[in-house]
Amino acid sequence: MSKILVTGAAGLFGINYCFNSHQQHSILGTVRQPIKRLPFETTSVDLLEKGSLAKVIDRFKPDVLIHAAANANLDDCEKNPREAFRLNAELPGFIAEQTAQRGIQLIHISTDAVFFDSSDRHFKESDSPNPAIVYSESKLESEEYVLSTDSHAIVARVNFFGWSMQGNKSLSEFFFNALSENQPCFGFPDVFFCPLYVEDLAEIFNKMLEKELHGLYHVTGSEALSKFEFGQRIAKRFGYDIHLISPKEVELSTLHTPRSHNLRLDNTKLYTDLGMEIPGVTHGIDRFYTQYKLGYPQKLRSYQQK
Ligand SMILES: NC(=O)c1ccc[n+]([C@@H]2O[C@H](COP(=O)([O-])OP(=O)(O)OC[C@H]3O[C@@H](n4cnc5c(N)ncnc54)[C@H](OP(=O)(O)O)[C@@H]3O)[C@@H](O)[C@H]2O)c1
Repeated sequence: MSKILVTGAAGLFGINYCFNSHQQHSILGTVRQPIKRLPFETTSVDLLEKGSLAKVIDRFKPDVLIHAAANANLDDCEKNPREAFRLNAELPGFIAEQTAQRGIQLIHISTDAVFFDSSDRHFKESDSPNPAIVYSESKLESEEYVLSTDSHAIVARVNFFGWSMQGNKSLSEFFFNALSENQPCFGFPDVFFCPLYVEDLAEIFNKMLEKELHGLYHVTGSEALSKFEFGQRIAKRFGYDIHLISPKEVELSTLHTPRSHNLRLDNTKLYTDLGMEIPGVTHGIDRFYTQYKLGYPQKLRSYQQK
């Protein structure tokens, strides 16, 4: 059992990681607003307040720190670039200083969106990123800070889906919410990605820790598909009307901030170093569906911050 500090524990990744791993590990999650009755410990902290995280580290003395707190709202990052760089780039750099000095194993979460592309290739860790928007630029800067500061850190470029406490944080919930209300919606046929179910991601992180991996990894699923097809797969698995989802090219959508057409990442380094297969989308959507049948979304919602 390790002592694991998780930042952003109320977010999509954080809440699922903590629920998935709290019986195996001693978890402390940082949140901004207190959440009652959770089956693991949390502490309320604004990570941008000077000295706040160092205090939490001094008290909890973690073996591992998983840094999931960020501003992942692309439009917000475009509007407030200074704040985006503070939270998404400078904070991870500071965290890496702390983990390097104190011998804490760090997993820093980055993004597939460091690539901006329209080909159909899969990017490897050795390919040069070319971020085109503030969010992606800030995440790439965080990777550089972390990798140059803490040589034992893992930097994981991810893309994931699942159930959230807020009920509307993931692409899978976007499709589920529309389909379950019998509402028509759009999916992008021209944006390709390799998503992982969030609990698969949590379990892969735990395996990476067991294997003592370090450095940059593409921690994404083993299957590439368009966001439109992803929506159709969700409709099929839940038995909803697939025709409620129409294809719409991303440039014709109402999204303000430009999106890359190609977010396909090559995960060969990950599955080679772990010596295991990485799940694809069918497996992930099956788990997403099983958790729904078990009442997991309602359980998460019941903890929602007041
Ligand atoms: N979701 C994806 O598919 C995806 C794809 C690529 C990369 N990522 C990366 O994965 C990581 C986790 O993403 P996510 O989807 O879980 O994000 P999320 O749901 O937006 O969660 C981020 C969390 O960070 C917290 N936070 C923000 N500013 C903070 C501050 N100053 N002090 C303390 N906490 C703060 C937020 O707290 P509040 O709840 O109080 O706002 C939120 O709970 C991020 O690094 C993101 O860039 C996600």
